[in-house]
Amino acid sequence: MSFLKRLSGASLVKIAATAIVSAAVLPMTALAQFNDTTPGLELQISITDGLLNGSVNGRVVVLFAPSGVDPLEDTDVTSSPDLIFGMNVFGTVGTDTITLSGGSGYNVRTGVWGWPNASLDEVPPGNYSVQAFLNPYETVTRSDGSTLSVHFPCGDGAPNVDGVGSLVTSITDVEIQEGPQTVELNFNNVTLVEAFTGSEIGGCSQGNYEDTETLKYVKIRSQALSSFWGRDMYVGANIVLPSGYDANDTSARYPVIYSQGHWPADGGAFGYPDSNFSAEWDNGTIPGEDGEPDRPAPKMILVTFRHEAPFYDDSYAVNTANIGPYGDAINDELIPYIEANFNTIPEPYARVQVGGSTGGWESAASLIFRPDLFGVCFSSYPDSLDFHRHQDIPLYTSTNAYVRPNGSAIPSIRDFENGTEVVLATVAQENHWELTFGTSSRSSLQWDVWNAVFGVQGINGYPLEPWNKVTGEIYPEAVRYWRHMDLADYIVSNWDNERNLGETLRRRIFIYVGTWDDYYLNEGVVEFQNRVSAAGGPDWANVTILPERPHGGNYQGRTTWDFLELVYSWIQDHSPVGPTPLSSNVTAPASRGNTFAEVLSYGGHQAALARQAPPTIETGHCDKAGCVFAASVGRWDPGVILEAQWTVNGKPYGAAFDVAQGASLTYTPEASTKWSFLQLSVTGRKSGYVDETRQSNGVVIT
Ligand SMILES: *[C@@H]1O[C@H](CO)[C@@H](O)[C@H](O)[C@H]1NC(C)=O
Ligand SMILES: *[C@@H]1O[C@H](CO)[C@@H](O)[C@H](O)[C@H]1NC(C)=O
Ligand SMILES: *[C@@H]1O[C@H](CO)[C@@H](O)[C@H](O)[C@H]1NC(C)=O
Ligand SMILES: *[C@@H]1O[C@H](CO)[C@@H](O)[C@H](O)[C@H]1NC(C)=O
Ligand SMILES: *[C@@H]1O[C@H](CO)[C@@H](O)[C@H](O)[C@H]1NC(C)=O
Ligand SMILES: *[C@@H]1O[C@H](CO)[C@@H](O)[C@H](O)[C@H]1NC(C)=O
Ligand SMILES: *[C@@H]1O[C@H](CO)[C@@H](O)[C@H](O)[C@H]1NC(C)=O
Ligand SMILES: *[C@@H]1O[C@H](CO)[C@@H](O)[C@H](O)[C@H]1NC(C)=O
Ligand SMILES: *[C@@H]1O[C@H](CO)[C@@H](O)[C@H](O)[C@H]1NC(C)=O
Repeated sequence: MSFLKRLSGASLVKIAATAIVSAAVLPMTALAQFNDTTPGLELQISITDGLLNGSVNGRVVVLFAPSGVDPLEDTDVTSSPDLIFGMNVFGTVGTDTITLSGGSGYNVRTGVWGWPNASLDEVPPGNYSVQAFLNPYETVTRSDGSTLSVHFPCGDGAPNVDGVGSLVTSITDVEIQEGPQTVELNFNNVTLVEAFTGSEIGGCSQGNYEDTETLKYVKIRSQALSSFWGRDMYVGANIVLPSGYDANDTSARYPVIYSQGHWPADGGAFGYPDSNFSAEWDNGTIPGEDGEPDRPAPKMILVTFRHEAPFYDDSYAVNTANIGPYGDAINDELIPYIEANFNTIPEPYARVQVGGSTGGWESAASLIFRPDLFGVCFSSYPDSLDFHRHQDIPLYTSTNAYVRPNGSAIPSIRDFENGTEVVLATVAQENHWELTFGTSSRSSLQWDVWNAVFGVQGINGYPLEPWNKVTGEIYPEAVRYWRHMDLADYIVSNWDNERNLGETLRRRIFIYVGTWDDYYLNEGVVEFQNRVSAAGGPDWANVTILPERPHGGNYQGRTTWDFLELVYSWIQDHSPVGPTPLSSNVTAPASRGNTFAEVLSYGGHQAALARQAPPTIETGHCDKAGCVFAASVGRWDPGVILEAQWTVNGKPYGAAFDVAQGASLTYTPEASTKWSFLQLSVTGRKSGYVDETRQSNGVVIT
């Protein structure tokens, strides 16, 4: 689900036209690669003088395309002909040669990880077009005390390989033969910032575009984001004005459609500009069909946000512990700025949220978290609204995200051919593919950004992943933190408390999805509908599930004008002079949720610290020969594998042994250890984490 994946009809057509991957067989290669085989293929990548100043952490990605093919031409999981290998680098300087070999050891943080096979030893002999990239990370310490290395996009929508500042090799013809071989490559170029023409503040961050008469670009430095990330952070918006808009006539005011979605670059909303719709919009006339007369277009302002962020091409428009207070930046900084500078109607009934897919989730979440600010959402084929089905994964009850209990692979992307479902990629394939582009959820791809948005921070500063990205093993404790972002769970949990969402959101949520959704997003919609209608009745939310419709298109498959007229009629109906005005009772400030303070308190670095505990040996109960010392292994992040070692007078006593999280241990002193100093040392290991050893308190064996 590359950045392409959630986007447009065009990219879906492309996916549908490509080779079909069988879903029946989970590529177990990933699981079998836990030791390096004999050295086979080794890559050595040098760096041209002057290209890299200082030292960087980052991700090297090497693409092997068939001979004569541009390796970047198609890197999509469903269709790429490439073999893709990635490896993190730490403190690399310009004089270094970066060496890649083998496949991953147990820890993808330090080893090579490849797709479709984990190891470089599995590149079949043949001729290839090879290109390598180094995506440099910046190491930052955020205001909550967490430190991490991430890439900050700069007007490019956060591509995963060749973002601004990436070092690049030439495309190199390489012949791979049987047996050991060394291939030398050279980083000799840097991906440059697009030459922007606009005069917005903030340089290339969020792009920088030139206004036209009807399409205006705004960008602000966000106080909230800059303070969280400890650097200047910006958010922007593309604003399409209706025909006849006169900036000086503040008596003519317009409702605003906030259209959520992926990185829009310089485009506005609904395909504006550069579509038939643009001409009709500018003209203010909807052409009549089938002999109907033309009719005047509803006059509204259309707004799309630019919020490329570390982890993805957009932030998901809410406050999250991993990406930061984007909800606040957009809703409390950018929207007030837009309202101060354009002739909007600054009332909830005239602020409408719409979007599809990623934008479907964003528009729903924006209304659900901010009923005080927005009036309604029309959300199409949204990302998982209810994690009882995260795509097709029963997240709360499964033990593995990749394989069902009966052994079949859980699918992720599908197509319907002549009415028959064809699986284009499994969850395992897609996650393994993502892992080549970044560890610790840094691939800038779909499953990873969900980890960043829905999950809390791990103690390592990165998203606390809900499952082992290699094996699919689900960590129930990590998943429990996702409940805050499970929109059905959130609504029902705040049904009749001070947020009063049962009354506040009644009949304000409109959802549409098709039963043939390419990413199984209909499953989460059904779960959402079941849960909210159990609490509020069948009309509480307006959910449309259309048979045999795929992912894409406008709400309910409407034409653009049909959809805009539907939205406009909702606005008219709910205006103060309409038949059903939106009562101030349901836009009370108390209904607001997802505050950043709350998000950090359950999901930020201090919460991660509070989750940890060192091993402890109980004292007070046992200080006589013949008694038994009881100890705990301490508390660790979910998924950390523990090895324990008793020490006596600082020296290992007995063999180290594996121990489960939460386990209680006992130590029965032998006569020889009398008057010695007993400690328990526990080492935690987790893929994506630095190994860590924690010592218990010490007790004297008497
Ligand atoms: C490496 O893998 C092979 C084959 O799976 C296995 O027999 C061997 O024990 C492994 N070696 C180590 C050190 O894990
Ligand atoms: C490195 O520094 C040189 C000299 O200051 C400069 O020309 C070059 O653009 C810099 N390279 C990068 C990648 O910043
Ligand atoms: C490498 O991946 C391909 C495609 O998934 C698979 O057919 C092949 O068996 C894998 N090779 C090894 C050695 O596992
Ligand atoms: C690479 O291409 C050359 C020239 O076409 C050919 O002779 C050679 O056999 C190819 N190598 C492999 C490993 O297929
Ligand atoms: C570096 O990349 C730029 C932009 O893609 C290109 O114009 C230039 O020729 C490249 N330089 C080298 C040495 O490949
Ligand atoms: C496994 O379970 C899934 C979901 O219930 C079902 O669609 C699939 O056919 C089953 N596969 C096998 C091999 O039984
Ligand atoms: C779908 O139907 C068309 C026309 O009958 C046929 O050409 C095509 O092969 C079919 N595709 C599949 C996957 O069955
Ligand atoms: C749901 O919304 C549609 C418009 O999208 C409307 O036609 C329909 O009557 C609504 N259903 C209910 C039960 O309100
Ligand atoms: C708003 O709430 C007040 C107090 O609960 C109630 O009296 C009033 O009828 C409500 N107004 C509307 C329009 O629902």
